[in-house]
Amino acid sequence: MNGQYRALWLNKADDLEVIDQRYLPFAKNICVLKTAHDICEAIKDMTVRGAGVIGNVAAFGVFLAAREFEGDKTQIKQAAIKIRESRPTAVNLMWAVDRMLHVVEHADDVIAACKAEAIAIADKDVLRTQKIGQIGCDIIEDIMVDKKINQFNILTHCNAGWLAIVDSGSALAPIYEAQKRGINIHVWVDETRPRNQGASLTSWELLDAGIQHTIIPDNTGGHLVQQGLVDMVITGADRVALNGDAANKIGTYLKALAAKDNDVPFYIALPINTFDFDCKNGVQDIEIEQRSEDEVHMMRGLDNKGNVQTIRITPEHSKTANYGFDVTPARLITGLITEAGVIAPNQEAIRQLQPSCST
Ligand code: MRU
Repeated sequence: MNGQYRALWLNKADDLEVIDQRYLPFAKNICVLKTAHDICEAIKDMTVRGAGVIGNVAAFGVFLAAREFEGDKTQIKQAAIKIRESRPTAVNLMWAVDRMLHVVEHADDVIAACKAEAIAIADKDVLRTQKIGQIGCDIIEDIMVDKKINQFNILTHCNAGWLAIVDSGSALAPIYEAQKRGINIHVWVDETRPRNQGASLTSWELLDAGIQHTIIPDNTGGHLVQQGLVDMVITGADRVALNGDAANKIGTYLKALAAKDNDVPFYIALPINTFDFDCKNGVQDIEIEQRSEDEVHMMRGLDNKGNVQTIRITPEHSKTANYGFDVTPARLITGLITEAGVIAPNQEAIRQLQPSCST
């Protein structure tokens, strides 16, 4: 990865362009967002998704609001609050909007200052993900030496690549770095029902990068770790509490349980702005988004003529439950891979990162 993998950018007119993730892997469509309302809709309907990118898009949304309301601070703040409330679990969204609100409060030329800050937030994320890649890959190399293996099998859940955090991701960053270092790596990709971020997005990224991978149904991970076919499990996170409990895409917790039961290391990779220093206990306090029943009832794919179709896979009158995330307790996490190093999942270690979160 060389810094060209961005899921969002400003065009010449200073509108925000994003890769519309709803159409991947079948089409790479670009969506143009011009107003704060466009931003809210794009986050809610998952045109854009993934904790880091949601934060970036939200920051640019405050810039678009500043432009739309010609620098009127009251109107910009009202729009920013709506953006902040567009999804509940990924804390990067709140972090980014709060940073932008600080700029709105203190700047004289609000439009220019908001644009500069949104760009700075995204640029900083690039550096964070590069560092996470290097630190995570060092762990991969250590495990390979310890186990005396020359191929590394890693399992990931959901999508935490460059589509989710510019521009090499969190969980996928060590994998991209491993490829750069010439490590023979193979990725087990959980399909990640119901929206299939693994099957549709992670596989698309890995294929594009030429990295060996195999898509597996979500229920397969336990069997693989039991059979010694997984050397490490790694996922991203949407919010990590002060006690080290980590919210990530629904199903992550089950992977962590299987890893623990089989002595397989389970790592969470995250930039420091994914910590919620105000949340003392993740399992108890992190709000879990509940999404539309239709995401469980319906599946999207290509028919035999190559057209995208959405079909129903459930009986018409059955109910579904669609929790977007679960929380993996700290006791199941081997370590938190951040741009500041590998952190133990406990309050003492995490507290020390708090000063770096505002830079
Ligand atoms: O609901 P999504 O697709 O926005 O879910 C968020 C995620 O992409 C994952 O939970 C991911 O592993 C963490 S984001 C880097």
